[in-house]
Amino acid sequence: ERVIKAALLGLGTVGTGVYKVLKNQEEEMTAKLGCKVKISRILVRNLEKAARKLGDDSLLTNDWKEIVADPSIEIVIEVMGGIHPAKEYILDALKAGKHVVTANKDLIAVHGRELLEAAGETKADFMFEAAVAGGIPIIGPLKQSLAGNHMTEVMGIVNGTTNFILTRMTQDGMEFKDALALATELGYAEADPTADIDGLDAGRKVAILASVAFNSRVVFDDVYIEGITKISAKDIRYAKEMGCDIKLLGVARNTEEGVEAYVCPMLIPSTHPLATVNDSYNAVFVHGDAVEDAMFFGRGAGEMPTASAVVGDIFEIVRNILAGCCGRIGCTCYKQLPVKKMES
Ligand code: NDP
Ligand code: HSE
Repeated sequence: ERVIKAALLGLGTVGTGVYKVLKNQEEEMTAKLGCKVKISRILVRNLEKAARKLGDDSLLTNDWKEIVADPSIEIVIEVMGGIHPAKEYILDALKAGKHVVTANKDLIAVHGRELLEAAGETKADFMFEAAVAGGIPIIGPLKQSLAGNHMTEVMGIVNGTTNFILTRMTQDGMEFKDALALATELGYAEADPTADIDGLDAGRKVAILASVAFNSRVVFDDVYIEGITKISAKDIRYAKEMGCDIKLLGVARNTEEGVEAYVCPMLIPSTHPLATVNDSYNAVFVHGDAVEDAMFFGRGAGEMPTASAVVGDIFEIVRNILAGCCGRIGCTCYKQLPVKKMES
């Protein structure tokens, strides 16, 4: 039986989720793919902390060179975060012909073009579904199922922390600072929540969405950004009186003058589908000339939802790797699960 080996870079929230999903799904994945996917190395900084988490240190290393030089490793899963050394490691991996999956929106929003070009040169796959809206499938649909459209608009709620804060301010009348404190207490906001509340995290996601949806190269610096720190409970009450809600929206439009992208708090009618997206949920709304309107909704962050998107990318890469397998449902090389007969 063919075994495809992968290296996991990072064993934090997302890395742990990816490890768990691959373990939980081992049998089912093997049945679906017709081969095994095995994490053969895990790169971390703190070996002891990671060994305590796994109860085993046999897969752990802090030596990147050892991973990139290992020809048996075909896939690199980057879930460390940050720009450096993630960028250098991904470039090394792509140059070595390894396929790469990443959840790193900070990196893609700035250096996506360079990474995609490096992948193109060695014909390696470079996938990043988890980088936008965590567990919600949106990059894959834009690249594939919606590819037949001329897309004119992509917009949505792409930051869970700020959506949670605005929801508490709307539903419980909380002031911004109290809602932020609650978000921190519940683990939604980071110890330093600046990137969330100032709209920077949403801005990175909008740059990636606009690039994929409009086949353009929008970078973080092209996005106009305003966060939610100036919104008060009073603003939200006034909005309600007008039949509206305030949401932090990321918007990208494909206009005749070029692509425009921005993130800012906006008034939307309470009847709009995006107004019903509450707590830490995310949603992305797209408009294309053929499909018209479509909306994607789900968990935008967290260990298992984000891992779901990362593992989906691994599936696609494995299907592409398998010699002679086109990876399409219905093809004879695609291993289908048996269908259980239902009792009448
Ligand atoms: P964490 O901080 O929880 O985990 C980071 C992991 O990477 C840790 O295991 C850390 O090891 C390791 N690491 C960091 N730098 C290095 C390095 N230089 N060399 C080796 N190992 C390193 O991050 P998350 O799991 O939350 O996020 C990972 C990525 O996923 C980020 O790009 C993030 O933006 C993205 N993402 C996260 C989501 C979420 O819900 N958390 C949602 C969507 C995307 P050590 O502990 O030893 O330092
Ligand atoms: N801080 C981000 C959020 C995590 O709140 O949506 C997922 O990208």
